[in-house]
Amino acid sequence: MPRVLSCIQPTGVVHLGNYLGALRTWVSGQHECDAFHGIVDLHALTVTDRPGVLGASTLELAATLFAVGLDPDVATVFVQSHVPEHSQLGWVMECTVSHGELSRMTQFKDKSAKREADFISAGLFTYPALQAADILLYDADEVPVGEDQRQHIEITRDIAMRFNGRFGKTFVVPKIITPRAGAKVTDLQEPTAKMSKSAAGDSGIVYLLDEPSAIIKKFKRAVTDSDGEVRFDRTEKPGISNLLEILAACTGRTPEQTATAYTQYGPLKADTGEAVVDVLTPIQHRYRELMGDQAELSRLLRVGADKARSVASATLARAYSNIGLLPPN
Ligand code: AMP
Ligand code: TRP
Repeated sequence: MPRVLSCIQPTGVVHLGNYLGALRTWVSGQHECDAFHGIVDLHALTVTDRPGVLGASTLELAATLFAVGLDPDVATVFVQSHVPEHSQLGWVMECTVSHGELSRMTQFKDKSAKREADFISAGLFTYPALQAADILLYDADEVPVGEDQRQHIEITRDIAMRFNGRFGKTFVVPKIITPRAGAKVTDLQEPTAKMSKSAAGDSGIVYLLDEPSAIIKKFKRAVTDSDGEVRFDRTEKPGISNLLEILAACTGRTPEQTATAYTQYGPLKADTGEAVVDVLTPIQHRYRELMGDQAELSRLLRVGADKARSVASATLARAYSNIGLLPPN
């Protein structure tokens, strides 16, 4: 059974891009693989400095992960800061990646440019080293993520191979897994930009907890083009292609097949909105139920952290030993 690991940051509200690009694949994969999923609060620290916010968003994100269908009896769901091995191996990873490699990461360039006059933490720069630790600690064979994470998985592979070359075989070199449709959901108002928690306005973002009427409205107002032809073509027709891809992801078809059923934009927008509402409504019900029992959520996270630690501590010990650090006794 392959080992799978993927994580999500507790920053902002989960949106349709997170769901179609990542969470849905985590849920469908949990029975065929040994699944570990982390809520990476330490990664969120790279851009969050308001006190008292992260704990609440961590609990809400845990409710979301169980609401979308991760089964705590099957998948291991844990909080990154509950498993100290992440920070410990993170340092080792920082010493295994070069300054030059980190400088080439597009996410750092984008995020630091967006923050302009704001505080740009060193953590934002070394972020990929901690992400490599997240993955390598679990001997993950596969990492299911959206397309935006490709560069992070590539650097993790480079780090793993470099470490194995220096210190002997220690880490599994992981593979990226992206979904067939939905790997890059774009903003409904700006269809060339990815749907993102950090977008300026929220009329182009569909949140998992949006009211059905708000979802339908956002799709009705989605930016398209003026040539009037329904065709899947990401470059020439980004708005229409995004709708086709979302509808395809919700109905288990390909965007190309989906396109053949439409000649007009209006019905495509309406059907896509409805398909999304159908997918999200049961998730919203489960989310509300789960948030009603926060003690139970905390208990599930404690169980997850125990399972995660038992794997992570063995990997960290192997890494320390292969490096040749002096054992404490
Ligand atoms: P983040 O919200 O950055 O922690 O992302 C969590 C997961 O959602 C990662 O696997 C991302 O690749 C995925 N993701 C984020 N935004 C999108 C998007 N617009 N389309 C597809 N996947 C996405
Ligand atoms: N960088 C990822 C994101 O922004 C979150 C993340 C942190 C992650 N550690 C990970 C994803 C390990 C996959 C595996 O979405």
